[in-house]
Amino acid sequence: MFEPVVKVKGLTKVFKSLKAVDSVSFSIFPGEILGLLGPNGAGKTTIIHMLLGLTTPTSGDIQVFGLDLRKRRKEIIQNVNFSSSYVSMPNSLSVKESLKVFARLYKTKNREKRIQELLEAFEIAGIKDKLVRHLSSGQQTRLNLAKALINDPKVLLLDEPTASLDPDIADKTRTLLRSIKKDRNISILYTSHNMREMEQMSDRIIFLHKGQIIAEGQPEEVVRSFGRSNLEEVFLKVAREEA
Ligand SMILES: Nc1ncnc2c1ncn2[C@@H]1O[C@H](COP(=O)(O)OP(=O)(O)O)[C@@H](O)[C@H]1O
Ligand SMILES: [Mg+2]
Repeated sequence: MFEPVVKVKGLTKVFKSLKAVDSVSFSIFPGEILGLLGPNGAGKTTIIHMLLGLTTPTSGDIQVFGLDLRKRRKEIIQNVNFSSSYVSMPNSLSVKESLKVFARLYKTKNREKRIQELLEAFEIAGIKDKLVRHLSSGQQTRLNLAKALINDPKVLLLDEPTASLDPDIADKTRTLLRSIKKDRNISILYTSHNMREMEQMSDRIIFLHKGQIIAEGQPEEVVRSFGRSNLEEVFLKVAREEA
């Protein structure tokens, strides 16, 4: 049995009187894609922010690579990366310049080659000189994803990575992420509101509702346990239950 790369225990975040994340425990194993899903406000982004050390947990433990995130964040973060549709890159740089900045920060080896590979993989080589502030949201997302891979991370945290992509690029992105996972055995935690994508991509899913895990397992298992025929139906049932 492999040791988990990420191990979360009793993770809780309280904002004033709101329990945004309520005693959540889970692990992510090497080479696994774990899908985190749940209605708006379920606590998905807050969990990702805590895993990155951007938000301090109210209580609970996070271990990454067997190390305590509170004590060893600097080391850990070298081998972790993330992308989020809601975090933008420095506005006044070009696409290529901004990747160079991150490559330098992460001390990426063979920078020029790595940047070229990523520009091509995400089909943004043609706009490498365009300023970030002039990018469409789909282009911005692809740049974010390229940035997320610049340090060859062992753990990748993706918050709604395909939200602003057209179906063609979204599909290519999924294929690319799956092949990266296979080739490099990296672990991916990601969120999406696209339930078909969740089913296709995830080895395992965690269903979050009001800060708590209400179901987890392989997508088919979760669908079965709710007596539904697909994840979309499960989502609608949960989201509408107490509306
Ligand atoms: N910085 C913050 N201050 C206060 N409340 C917050 C903050 N960040 C998130 N929340 C609240 O925590 C809950 C979970 O938010 P979030 O993690 O963004 O959910 P999700 O990503 O699943 O949509 C929401 O009710 C949100 O309004
Ligand atoms: Mg969110």
